[in-house]
Amino acid sequence: MLVNKLRKVAVVGTGLVGSSTAFSLANQCVCEEIILIDINKERAFGEVLDISHGVEYFSSRTQIKTGEYKDCEDVDVVVITAGAPPRAGQTRLDTLEMSAKVVESIINPIMDSGFNGIFVMISNPVDIITYHVWKLSGLPRNKVIGTGTSLDSARLKSLLSEQLGVDPRSIQAYSMGEHGDSQMVPWSHVYVGGKPFSKIREENPDTYGALDLDALVLKTANLGWDVVNRKGTTYYGIASAAVGIIKSILHNEKRVIPVSTIIEGVYNQDKPIAISVPAIIGIDGVEDVVVIDMTKEEEEKFDKSAKVIRDYISKLGY
Ligand code: LAC
Repeated sequence: MLVNKLRKVAVVGTGLVGSSTAFSLANQCVCEEIILIDINKERAFGEVLDISHGVEYFSSRTQIKTGEYKDCEDVDVVVITAGAPPRAGQTRLDTLEMSAKVVESIINPIMDSGFNGIFVMISNPVDIITYHVWKLSGLPRNKVIGTGTSLDSARLKSLLSEQLGVDPRSIQAYSMGEHGDSQMVPWSHVYVGGKPFSKIREENPDTYGALDLDALVLKTANLGWDVVNRKGTTYYGIASAAVGIIKSILHNEKRVIPVSTIIEGVYNQDKPIAISVPAIIGIDGVEDVVVIDMTKEEEEKFDKSAKVIRDYISKLGY
């Protein structure tokens, strides 16, 4: 709980994702202090200088500095971006071994600092890394959040926006499950300006009714690769998704965002798993999970995605 103190965010890893996240935090005035932590201290300080030079033109001041893991005791949110990016031909899941090692070298010293805030995980494969950080940190499950399909859902809405000619923010749609190829969309819960998408498809059989929904989901899952193939990696989209989650935490917005969170006893999952479902995000992190009634087919797709995640969680020895 914030007790009239400055809202502090630490960003671990100041590569393109971490620096974009830090810039978005400052530009959107989400917090009062940002600490940039990186093994490359010169690079971290370069990002501090570059972002700080823009504060003059932001609507409120954010103080940015470099720091160490030991400085995390009074930090409210730690964002972890460090990890092994997939090489050509690899999926996010293929980077698990390397990313898990990187994360282990980060979480333990942060917890030794006395950190008792909220982790927001970006490092891929984010679902399995979120589960790993929950176990490593010993924090309660509401305090370990993965960006999960928060970005995939935004990508889905941008695709639907193109098709429908409507602002993506007037479309309610979730991608759920793995942040990866097995993600699924509960189409029975997609609404455009409050009107069920299924109704729009019924009323327009030759246009929206003819859309291949499975192909749309696959296109959504591959949009990250469309970016990687053109500019080498993604960073603005994921930074924006992470900052949306952090803003909902620090401003206690209670926004419903599909994030990778530890669920058990809902969505047909009888054992703990980190997987993306719609969740209410506030000052205490994941404050509640929104359980939507899915069709049988949707439940089967979600279960299939959960199985992919569980298979990889087991590779970490859990
Ligand atoms: C992407 C990365 C964050 O989908 O996995 O852009």
